Amino acid sequence: MAPRWVSGVMVAAVMVAAVIALDNGLARTPPMGWLHWERFLCGTDCADHPSRCVSEQLFVEMADRMAAEGWRDAGYEFLCIDDCWMAPTRDGQGRLRADPERFPGGIRRLADYVHSKGLKLGIYSDVGSKTCAGFPGSYGHYELDAQTFASWGVDLLKFDGCNSGSLEQLAEGYRRMSLALNKTGRSIVYACEWPFYLRPVQQPNYTEIKQYCNHWRNFYDVYDSWNSIKSILEWTALHQDSIVKIAGPGGWNDPDMLVIGNFGLSWDQSVTQMAMWAIMAAPLFMSNDLRHISPEAKCLLQNKEVIAINQDPLGRQGYRILKDKTFELWERPLSGRAYAVAVLNQQEIGGPQNFTFSLTFLGNGLACNPACSVRQVLPASRDWGVYSWTSFLSVEVNPTGTVLLKVLAL
Ligand code: GLA
Repeated sequence: MAPRWVSGVMVAAVMVAAVIALDNGLARTPPMGWLHWERFLCGTDCADHPSRCVSEQLFVEMADRMAAEGWRDAGYEFLCIDDCWMAPTRDGQGRLRADPERFPGGIRRLADYVHSKGLKLGIYSDVGSKTCAGFPGSYGHYELDAQTFASWGVDLLKFDGCNSGSLEQLAEGYRRMSLALNKTGRSIVYACEWPFYLRPVQQPNYTEIKQYCNHWRNFYDVYDSWNSIKSILEWTALHQDSIVKIAGPGGWNDPDMLVIGNFGLSWDQSVTQMAMWAIMAAPLFMSNDLRHISPEAKCLLQNKEVIAINQDPLGRQGYRILKDKTFELWERPLSGRAYAVAVLNQQEIGGPQNFTFSLTFLGNGLACNPACSVRQVLPASRDWGVYSWTSFLSVEVNPTGTVLLKVLAL
């Protein structure tokens, strides 16, 4: 049994976390789901491209796949609409409405369908006068839009930050929408881009952002390319001193969508994205076409062990502990005296290379003290056995690949 003071400290820590996080009880682990943007962008031409325009049909088909093909059961529960779902103008009462041709049943009918599949529906709006793609924004309508979304049965709002005027308007808008969502009485996860739009001009106040948002984007949009994944990882490592400590149950840094299953990443790069998004305690929103996805990509995205690391209940974000030429070593503290450890090989020439490191590097020397068991999670699961504190590990990693390990102190 833990000594009394330990449980006292734990209770105090939980109370502090409860005070600083957005108090809507949601996103206790990073939210998981599917979001249309990276793969489907602003496709509005349903006449010529019926299967890839942003439409009711697209979301119905994704909902069917999510329920029937193991996605929902693996944890991907939010099916999210991004920009370009709206009609170009509000209705006679000032309410947002879906484009009537692309969403003939409106959002309410889609939400009912999505709920009938055991999934949740996400929607998109913008803090400014227009969305990034030029559709009506929520500026001047925060309360009305929150009520409209709640009345449709929406479960998540991605709130973008284009066209927002001054910095004060941006901050005020993000705060007001958070309060307006809370006022509806419906549980709605609130996904922000507040720090991303603020950062070029001002250092974000993450303590405040976490009081209002369940997760927040810090950096540029993800693209379907290794360069994009690399730049997100490098940005995250460079800013880890300010962003890692704030993440936890109720509020997460969002490095943007998983693009696994599309066109731009090799197998090893896909493994890297999955492993590193787990290390970063990132929300896992896939943006791909679940109607056309390879069995390998599906298997990787549905890998139970890596999802369990991403969803670890301790809720601590991982960080880079070492960069040695082309190798990077990252760790993430997990519940139950365990650590997730990622060895990433950034070299883009040649074949597999070995990286050798002392187990004393991990967990400030505690992860493997006096001994530990090591299990490889990615690229394939395999037990490596038991090691003592003074052991070295030699890990072979493919170019642009990652080996993800789980280290359990014994
Ligand atoms: C911004 C966001 C993206 C996406 C687009 C939509 O670029 O960062 O994630 O929502 O707007 O226009």
